[in-house]
Amino acid sequence: MAGKNAPIGVFDSGLGGLTTVRELRRLLPGEDIVYFGDTGRVPYGTRGVDTIVEYAKQDIAFLLSQNVKYVIAACGTVSSTLPTSITQQLPVPYLGVVPSAAAAAAAATKTGRIGVLGTPATIHSRSYEKAIHAISPQAQITATACPLFVPLVENGYFGRDNQVTRLVAQDYLKQVKAANVDTLILGCTHYPLIAPILGDLMGPDVVLIDPGWEAAHAARNWLAQQKLLRTEGCGTARYFVSDSTDNFRQLAGWFLGEYAGGEVCRIRVDDFHLETGGEQSI
Ligand code: DGL
Repeated sequence: MAGKNAPIGVFDSGLGGLTTVRELRRLLPGEDIVYFGDTGRVPYGTRGVDTIVEYAKQDIAFLLSQNVKYVIAACGTVSSTLPTSITQQLPVPYLGVVPSAAAAAAAATKTGRIGVLGTPATIHSRSYEKAIHAISPQAQITATACPLFVPLVENGYFGRDNQVTRLVAQDYLKQVKAANVDTLILGCTHYPLIAPILGDLMGPDVVLIDPGWEAAHAARNWLAQQKLLRTEGCGTARYFVSDSTDNFRQLAGWFLGEYAGGEVCRIRVDDFHLETGGEQSI
């Protein structure tokens, strides 16, 4: 098993998982991070579960080839659909974003009414509903798929005053507003970028949960507990993508904010295979 000085591996269907990398770099400045964004096959959230699982297995196989000590699925869609029969067999620990966000929502709600926004695959999986009910069986969950948010964000439509995104958000938020939720999970990597719009529309009394932020804290706690946390030195971030590195460089700054920059390489992710069942190998 990779030791304390090995990097943390983070993957996503594309660029959105960089919102989690940003939180990790802020919280864990001593850690090296290897990020894989499957920019050649994004989006995952509108695909069938079989395809998402096959893609995620290849993404993980690539990260394992980089000798990571920990695998974090920053992608809400992967975290919702990848079965534990696969994640529990990995040679390093795996963290998805659903459990910590569900726990944060269950802790934050006062009324027990929780809203969930996500991709169609995430909402269809009912992952958040199941995870919240395991903690708070009485919680009432209202979940809405928001397929237009990803392309809007990726096309730069995320400014607080953006009227197009506001209009789309007004429509998507109808159900959670009607349900009078007091807590709303932004269950997709891209949604933290439009949190100001969603916050304006929901009102100041609704708590917004960012799964990337929650996962970064869960990762820190786990690494510290296992004595695998690197606290000294200045960590680096290396980025790998499955499509043009130019596109990545152009857009990554939106998600990484002050942590923008770093080496970017293109790989052929379908060259990597994760064998599951029996002995684990890549
Ligand atoms: N990263 C995905 C998620 O968090 C959004 C983009 C996609 O559909 O692949 O669900």
